[in-house]
Formats: sequence, structure tokens, C-alpha cells
Amino acid sequence: MTERPIPTIVDITPANPQYQVDPHVVLDDMRSRCPVLDDPMSGSMILTRYADVRSIVNNRDLWRDPVRSESGGMLRRNFSDQVMAGVPRTHITSILTLDEPDHSRIRQPLAQALYARVAKFRPQVEALVDETLDALEGETAFDLMDRFCVPIPIDAIARILGVEHSRLADFRAWSEGVIQGLNPFRNAEQTAQMEAAAVALNAYFTDAMADRRANPRDDLISDMVQMIADGAPLDDEEVRLNLQALLVGGNLTTTDLIGNAVRLLVLNPSELAKLRADPGIINAVVEEVLRYEPPIDVTSRVLSAPAEVGGCPMKQGQSVLVSLRAANRDPQTYDDPHRFDVSRKHKPHIAFGGGAHICIGAPLARLEASVALVKLFERFPNLTLANPDETPAWRTMPFFRGMETLPVLV
Ligand code: HEM
Repeated sequence: MTERPIPTIVDITPANPQYQVDPHVVLDDMRSRCPVLDDPMSGSMILTRYADVRSIVNNRDLWRDPVRSESGGMLRRNFSDQVMAGVPRTHITSILTLDEPDHSRIRQPLAQALYARVAKFRPQVEALVDETLDALEGETAFDLMDRFCVPIPIDAIARILGVEHSRLADFRAWSEGVIQGLNPFRNAEQTAQMEAAAVALNAYFTDAMADRRANPRDDLISDMVQMIADGAPLDDEEVRLNLQALLVGGNLTTTDLIGNAVRLLVLNPSELAKLRADPGIINAVVEEVLRYEPPIDVTSRVLSAPAEVGGCPMKQGQSVLVSLRAANRDPQTYDDPHRFDVSRKHKPHIAFGGGAHICIGAPLARLEASVALVKLFERFPNLTLANPDETPAWRTMPFFRGMETLPVLV
């Protein structure tokens, strides 16, 4: 009998057509045969067991900045072009890849301002979802991604930031451009698109911050300039970069959460029936979608000291890539993990990562998805997929799981 080859990083990207169709064929194999995989191609250890993934993301002593990796990993190569002599790291990267003490210094005021905005944002999300659904009135067939899942997160964050309605189209285009920053395999054209969007957003935020200093408004940009005025230890460049990170981190992911949720619910009528019978279970539905089909595949850390991980000794500087998708379907943690079950008893998923870097936008993503799903199925009780038997048009961006299009009939 010939031994199956050990998987590599490439097997968990869209370069592997099987991973696109069903990622869990590869991930189950990795978790059972090589749960701590020394992957020469990425220069990372790849972890797939829930317990290992949880202990890595929750460990606040680890580093996040890939540039600190000594293993020459793929992530380090992707980020090392962003090391510039004399420019502080905090002016090059957002909290996403910063370590202490800068990470907490910047994240703490940003989180304080963002969470306060999200806490009172529900009526605006409801209005925004209603407007988006109103625009579909009278139509019987449309692409749900284009008309519903994509615009809602972008418009929501635009409202939180205080972007004028007249700039919304620009803002959407820039948001889509900067997303390429998360694509380690982006081509030259995508890099150019990303850079142009970043320059435009930088100029936009510079003007907006100057404007809010002179004319404060009820928005997150005003909150941040006020915090600087009140002595919060961060500067304008850091604010600009981290406001941009809210777009990078938040838009595609929340779009995919909503799209994946609609597809899963329509394909699992018994689960959709539970939601229809009691919309009060929406939070459980969103959590099960996040477990079952998380929008982000992986996150990473770098070992800040030698340690044993998953039973294997590792050195300082080792890059560790954790599969959130594999962890969320670990049979050691979840009964019948490959069953989509909105009544599942609570066992926290790991779709938002954990520890110091846990997703700062999780409350916003949950709010948007829960309002969007309840209102969508109320407005269109007969919503079905136009092509239920076709393989979904999965996007080819590595480490993200969402659809390019989702044609529906209502
Ligand atoms: C369903 C939607 C979302 C998913 C699945 C998601 C997932 C994640 C994950 C896995 C991380 C890394 C956590 C870690 O390494 O431990 C992260 C970090 C982050 N996310 Fe999200 N995210 C979502 C929505 C959002 C939204 C709406 C925003 C902005 C409003 C956002 C902004 C960020 C930022 C800025 C970080 C970096 C936090 C840090 O390193 O301190 N995300 N997210």
C-alpha cells in the first residue's frame, strides 16, 4: 500500500481544488495523522487540534508580529517587505500584527471607542438592513452576495466611522482594495490595487481627522481625535492605520459570515425552521455558522521562548499557524462535528481567535449578522438558492471562506 503524502500549506489553500469543495477532507487527515505539522513550505508549524489551537491563541506571552519569526516562514516573507529603516513599526502595521507594549497601547483606546459605538448601533443596523432589503423589492432573482452580503458590512462601518453618504462608493472601492493586504499570494495587479486604495484611504482619513478636530461629530473618527486631545498615548498615523484595519479585518469576513449563514440555513431546512419558529435563537444560529463555516481559516503566532507545543519541542522564533477551521470541527471537542446543528449545546468556537488579539470587531460582526439574517428571512420567507445542486462559487482568496456569488430566488 502506498503511503499518502503528508499535506503541506498548499493543500489548505484554493490551489487544492478538493480543499475548495470540502476543506475537511484535508483537515481531518491532518488532525489525525500530523496534528503538529512541521511544514517546510510555509516555514511554520501547522496545528489542527482544538486544544492546541486554543492554547496558542490564548497565550498572551507569544508574539504576533511575523517579522519576529526566525523560521523564514511564508508569513514573514510576506510582511518583511514592510520593514523600513527609521520608521516605527506602529506606523507600518496595525494592531493585527503588533506586539506589546504597542499592541495594548493602541488597541485599548480603539476598543473602548468602538465597543461604545457598537453598543448603541443596533437601530442603525436595523435601518441599514431595511434599506438594503427595500432596494430589492419587486425583484424575484438576484445575487445575494452583491446586493446584500457585501454592502451591509461596508455601509455599517462607514456609518460608525462617519463617512458621508456621497463618499460611500469611493469608500466601498477602497475597502475592497485594502483587503488584498490579507492575500499572501496577491499578484502585481492586486498589490497595485491595494496600494492605491491605501493611499486614498490615508488621504481620506487625514482630511476627516482634520475636519473632526474643527467640527466634531457623533462618529468614531471624532472619538479617536478627541482621545488624542485628551492625552491618549497614540498619534494620528496610528489612528489612521488602525481605522483602516477595521475595514481590512471587518468587511469581507462579515460578508462571508452572512453569505455562508444563508446558504447553510437554506440547505438545512430543519435548522432554518427552528429559526423561523423562534427568531430569538438567532445568536445561537450565528455561533453555529461561525463554528461550522468560519470566514477565516487561520491565524498565527511566533514563539517568544522555547516551548513544548502539542507535545513537540519548539524553539524561540518558531512561526505557528493555527487552523481555526480544523479546530472548530475537532471530534475531541464537538459531538458529531460535521453536523450543522443550531441547537448544539454551547461549546465556544474559535472563529474569532483568542487572547490579546481576539477579534476586536466580533461584537459588530455578530450584531450585523443577526439583524441581517432575521430580517432577510422575514422579508423573503420563500428564499431559495437558484442553483442548489451546483458547487458554490467559492472565492479564491487563500485563508478566507466565502462565495463570489450566491444567486437566489425569492
Ligand atoms: C465574522 C466576522 C469576523 C471574523 C470571522 C473575524 C476573525 C478574526 C480573527 C480570526 C482575528 C485574529 C484573532 C487572533 O489572532 O487571535 C481577527 C482580528 C481582528 N479583527 Fe476580526 N473578524 C471578523 C470581523 C471583524 C470586524 C467587523 C472588524 C472591524 C470592525 C474586525 C477587525 C479585526 C481587527 C482590527 C483584528 C486585529 C485585532 C488584534 O490583533 O488585536 N474583524 N478577526
